Amino acid sequence: MKNEDINIKKLAESKGILIGAEIDPTLLEKEEKYADTLKQHFNCTVAGNHMKFKYLEPEKDKFTFDIVDRMINFAQKNQMKIRGHTLCWHHESQLPDWILKKELTAKELEKILVNHIQKVVSHFKGKVFAWDVINEGINHQGDGLRKSNPWIKAIGEEVFDIAFHTAHQADPDCILFYNDYEIETINQKSDFLLELLRKLLKRGVPIHGIGFQYHYPLEKAPSSGEVLKNMKRFEDLGLQIHITELDIWLKMPYENSKLIEQANAYKEAFKAAINCKSCKAVLTWGFTDKYSWIPHFTKGAYGDPLIFDKNYLPKPAYYAICEVLNTIPKH
Ligand code: XIL
Repeated sequence: MKNEDINIKKLAESKGILIGAEIDPTLLEKEEKYADTLKQHFNCTVAGNHMKFKYLEPEKDKFTFDIVDRMINFAQKNQMKIRGHTLCWHHESQLPDWILKKELTAKELEKILVNHIQKVVSHFKGKVFAWDVINEGINHQGDGLRKSNPWIKAIGEEVFDIAFHTAHQADPDCILFYNDYEIETINQKSDFLLELLRKLLKRGVPIHGIGFQYHYPLEKAPSSGEVLKNMKRFEDLGLQIHITELDIWLKMPYENSKLIEQANAYKEAFKAAINCKSCKAVLTWGFTDKYSWIPHFTKGAYGDPLIFDKNYLPKPAYYAICEVLNTIPKH
């Protein structure tokens, strides 16, 4: 097969797995090449920022859905599924001042969260097939809940019950996810999460899936065996699995041979996904190196973490993924 004939979306579809990418919805309207590449190669998408709290509810009980509605029109026109990201997250860059700058009681915070989830999930009912309800609710060390999340700080573990039940009532058909980083392999954090989810499921909290963010610098990228072993533990709880934010960062500057190593790391991620029955989607966080959060996040130390280069040409990682999709049968 010639390279031009290889298409990641077609291969993923033949395996019954979704292949997705995070986008900036404003670029869909500004850059034709961006929109064209997305629709040609992906059948699932997620907004990088525009469905976070600050963007959807910048002022109390005043919601701004326009830009995301247009993104959804584009996605639907092009047969792409939409993930929602995210209803409850701690990050101060994504929370509005009316929450950050006010002393709010636990009761007030609960009311705010319930209202937000009801309005947002109802608005996108039937259009968003999966929501990251709580994002990064466990602390960085992985030994407790994240106290810098204002809701977790005020309400504690019960936030999980409140958030997931509210989302489920608003759209009973939507698959509800817990999403986090550094939980891809067996470690303190994934152990803690496993026990937490076991407990929550036992008391009837409607959690249906787990999102592995999968952000790694190349030198720390895990093997498929390590990821698969961990995925199976969550599969055994009856959860669906998505790889939600995959990117493999290169230390700058780098030699061309690093692109092959990067391709191999991507292969490992997809091997794990293909070999796990419950893993139904893999999304990269962005798709072109032209727009990735990594240079900013690592203050320039790392870059070029995606599967298309800055000119929208597929990189070795793209073809490596296609090879995995082509050769390994989906379990
Ligand atoms: C990132 C966005 O990509 C950036 O544009 C923004 O400045 C910060 O948030 N984990 C997540 C995502 O769950 O929401 C984050 O997205 C990346 C890490």
